[in-house]
Amino acid sequence: MCGIVGYIGKKESLPILLNGLRRLEYRGYDSAGVAIFNGEKIKQVKSVGKIENLLKKTKTENIFGAVGIAHTRWATHGGVKEINAHPHADCTGKLVLVHNGIIENYRELKTKLSAKHKFISETDSEVLAHLIEENYTGNLHEAVKKSLFQVQGTYGLVVMHVDHPELLIAARMGSPLVIGIGEEENFIASDATPMLAYTKKVIFLEDGEMADITKDSVQTYNVQDNFVSKQIEEIDWDEAQAQLQGFPHFMLKEIFDQPTVFKDAIRGRTNMEEGTAHLGGLNMTAEEMKNINRIILIACGTASYAAMVGKYAFERLSGIPTEVDVASEFRYRDPIIDEHTLVFGISQSGETADTLAALREAKRKGAFVRGIVNVVGSTIARETDGGTYIHAGPELAVASTKAYTNMITVLLLYALQFGRSRRLSLATGQRLLNAFLEISEKMQKILSQNEEIKKIAEKYKNSQDFFFLGRGINYPVALEGSLKLKEISYIHSEAYPGGELKHGPLALLSSEFPVFAIMTKNQLYEKMRSNVEEVRARKAPVILIATEGDEQAKELSDEIIYVPKTMELLEPLLNTIPLQLFAYHMAVILGKDVDRPRNLAKSVTVE
Ligand code: M6R
Repeated sequence: MCGIVGYIGKKESLPILLNGLRRLEYRGYDSAGVAIFNGEKIKQVKSVGKIENLLKKTKTENIFGAVGIAHTRWATHGGVKEINAHPHADCTGKLVLVHNGIIENYRELKTKLSAKHKFISETDSEVLAHLIEENYTGNLHEAVKKSLFQVQGTYGLVVMHVDHPELLIAARMGSPLVIGIGEEENFIASDATPMLAYTKKVIFLEDGEMADITKDSVQTYNVQDNFVSKQIEEIDWDEAQAQLQGFPHFMLKEIFDQPTVFKDAIRGRTNMEEGTAHLGGLNMTAEEMKNINRIILIACGTASYAAMVGKYAFERLSGIPTEVDVASEFRYRDPIIDEHTLVFGISQSGETADTLAALREAKRKGAFVRGIVNVVGSTIARETDGGTYIHAGPELAVASTKAYTNMITVLLLYALQFGRSRRLSLATGQRLLNAFLEISEKMQKILSQNEEIKKIAEKYKNSQDFFFLGRGINYPVALEGSLKLKEISYIHSEAYPGGELKHGPLALLSSEFPVFAIMTKNQLYEKMRSNVEEVRARKAPVILIATEGDEQAKELSDEIIYVPKTMELLEPLLNTIPLQLFAYHMAVILGKDVDRPRNLAKSVTVE
């Protein structure tokens, strides 16, 4: 959701900035812009739509120089228009900035500044440019600092000024910024991906911090404007990992990544002899773990469906009452929390504003707060007092796939660890770990049915509505399958627990309304079977996910996708994959923008 890239060095900055923006495309945007200092003045180019449009414009604009900033905008204040695209300038055009976040008191500030300053956009961000201009008396750092004290809201901000051609100033409050450290060049961006081709050394700015960046130095300051020495960290993702590797879309690549990244999520974290998992990041003593009497899993979207699987696992293996809270609800419902509560925030990006705010609230109320996060060094990863990376690698498609399965994997490991420290037998722990060892191969087996699943999508491409049914641990799978379909193919779909069907939704069924049903061989098999019979009686086409060898299931289905047998708790790791593939093919067949669906952003950093 909005992306920032900045460069200061000796090279031509335009290609670095544009490539950087491409790396941030996954966050979602609707316009883009770039500003470069050419030795005399700062020149800007902006365009609506894709980065390719911006690239075309830069070719006719003679824009060059070794210091520049660039931005992809996802409209919040003001429509999708070129004038609203960043960078924004002050009245003189000497000061130019890019901003992520929302300036909450922008109306008030704009009213005050309007007497002396000329505004050309409808954005909240432009206020910052004029405010800094107003406070500027020759020292840019001072002017930025003073202005930020007058601002309420969130920002990731990078400022450049013609009077200080060797300087970029960055500031962070609520919107992530990462500084990349190079040789006679430095970078700044919303996350580390734009700089991976040039450097692996990064500094993560914290909320309230500012940085003065030249090509040879990075000076960081805390909220009191005191110099702080920040640790330089090494990022271990390489650029190749973030590329398509021959797949037509990131989503398909990421679906096919699952057997590999699943192994990454469990590597070094299990102990077969003791039948348990060891997630060191939990940072809790055995005594503290024993005193936990309630677990709350907080997340949004797909991550919340992974959390629902986690609830089943925690309750079944450890006996600890576990709740799942959608982050945007949790933060406003005055939740009951004490020092015996363990809260996990689950997030791919680690930047989701609602999840972050909910975790802060839980922390304020005294809970143990831990993160289950993918993006290394993200805000949730740093603000929680421990937790675990899910090691899914860069997930660039807006629709989450491999992060979801790895979130479930880590939640299962935590549930096992708590279970073994309480009531779970060694034999059951070992059985679960043995089942884990077979998952990657079983995922591969499902992926080998890609072509058959594509044919099913082809057959149902004209359907307007779908139901997804599951029971028990497969109810979240149904929810996830339904979300995937609607977010990338824009087809209406709903998910229900099988038993709910007769309480209302059944009225919708007809021969025009296909139903996906997850009917694998587990303790609820017979119950699910009855639900499928109810569907068939209404003549709705049935697409079944069934366990290999279940020949009877064929009689109940119009289409059938077989998945290998595994322990019930692990079923979501397998059963979700056909649904991901179905949604993917449906979107491709319907000609949709699979990796960047309309209206959605990868990283939802506003409330
Ligand atoms: O980065 P997060 O995991 O915190 O994101 C949460 C949701 O916004 C995300 O899972 C969203 O639902 C996905 N687009 C689903 O595919």
